[in-house]
Amino acid sequence: MDWKTFARHGRKIADWGAGYHETLRDRPVRARTKPGEIFGQLPATPPETGEDMAAILEDFEKIVMPGLTHWQHPRFFAYFPANAAPPSMLAEFLTTVIAPQCMLWQTSPAATEMETRMILWLRDALGLPGDVTGAIQDSASTATLAAVLTMRECALNFKGKEEGLFGQTPLRIYCSDEVHSSIDRAIWFSGIGQDNLVRIPTQGPLRGMDPAALRKAVEADLAAGLRPAGIVACTGGTSTGACDDIDAVADVAQDHGLYLHVDAAWAGSAMICPEFRTLWQGIERADSVVFNPHKWLGAQFDCSVQFVRDSEALIHTLAIRPEYLLTHGADGITNYSEWSIPLGRRFRALKIWFLLRSYGLEGLRTRLRNHVAWSQALCDRLGAEPDIEIVTPPVLSLFTFRYRPAGVAEDDLDALNQRLVDTINDDGRIYLTQTLVGGAKAIRFQAGQFDCTEEDVALAFDVITEIARKEL
Ligand SMILES: Cc1ncc(COP(=O)(O)O)c(C=O)c1O
Repeated sequence: MDWKTFARHGRKIADWGAGYHETLRDRPVRARTKPGEIFGQLPATPPETGEDMAAILEDFEKIVMPGLTHWQHPRFFAYFPANAAPPSMLAEFLTTVIAPQCMLWQTSPAATEMETRMILWLRDALGLPGDVTGAIQDSASTATLAAVLTMRECALNFKGKEEGLFGQTPLRIYCSDEVHSSIDRAIWFSGIGQDNLVRIPTQGPLRGMDPAALRKAVEADLAAGLRPAGIVACTGGTSTGACDDIDAVADVAQDHGLYLHVDAAWAGSAMICPEFRTLWQGIERADSVVFNPHKWLGAQFDCSVQFVRDSEALIHTLAIRPEYLLTHGADGITNYSEWSIPLGRRFRALKIWFLLRSYGLEGLRTRLRNHVAWSQALCDRLGAEPDIEIVTPPVLSLFTFRYRPAGVAEDDLDALNQRLVDTINDDGRIYLTQTLVGGAKAIRFQAGQFDCTEEDVALAFDVITEIARKEL
């Protein structure tokens, strides 16, 4: 492809993108295809000779588009959002066309120095202490793995990398039942093993782990000759938004010299609003904190920020310095690949810069505060209906509810609620997901899509009540 053709199609795609977003409300939020339907439309073998881009784009519309779920749809109320504000898309377009690989300072000084500045901007925006630094990771899963590896190495005096875990006293990590499954996977991949992930009972679906039970578990493990290494706490759990009492958990961490990592992948964005920071009181005592600007804040996926209090511990855990990666003759540089698990790194800081400059923190705060207020209003309206029960009240913009019409046996409620979620999603006007609260099925609602309006949230009330009462 020559560059004139590239530019022609690039302009077409930019126009197409604007049109797509302007008409997004007319599309069903969730894809309506059946399993295998897209695969079956793709030829079994690749072409031997090149094809025209116009034909490729035509097939994209015909084959691919029907098979996409529209995460940027303003009525996407499922999971958590994966927002892509338009300025962050433009930044991604630039990084796509320049395509720098930013593993070392010298492989793109601007990317490294922009990353350092964006970390400091975000640290201050979230109200974290001035001695915190950090790095942009691809995902919260990776950041949590990096944190778990760091707690492992701190506990083993940085010998685990060389000696492995065979023959070592088992390391123990503590968390509640409300943490995300990425914590389990970090425990598997770090070699610590699921059996050494100690689940501390929570004090209800919205409250985090019981600090007294945490302390007891650590002390019991010490008495049994095991080696407590760290705690993974959460602010804004995926199921219902559960929040650990970070201050109380930090007391235990401090008393026993444990590394404390906090997963605030979703809720972290809300901390640009000072009034929400009570949810993570004590956060300045955490060793590591992850939050995903690619979730609620608006930086296009992927973009996850890991803050650390002691960057040396992280670097000591992850860095490796073969000659071919060294930069000679440059002092005081940062090589962010030494803060991350993959060597190669994308230029993710650019989209944060574009985002923050375009909206300003105040513009982003207004959006988040609106989501929280509209979600609370919807929760109040649903809760006032005789056949709907609020299972967990809003944590920020997330709450759960359950359809409970008169005359339906308790045992049939789970199936009924799953049928409600499925029917709503087939309808397409909104998109919701389910969870389990205390073993019973509940429907999750979260508002957070970047362009979502009060009317979009209000429409959720109409869709939920209409489908529950007419179609089940
Ligand atoms: C609380 C929480 N932590 C971690 C993750 C994993 O995030 P990522 O996809 O960035 O690995 C999620 C995903 O939704 C989450 O909700």
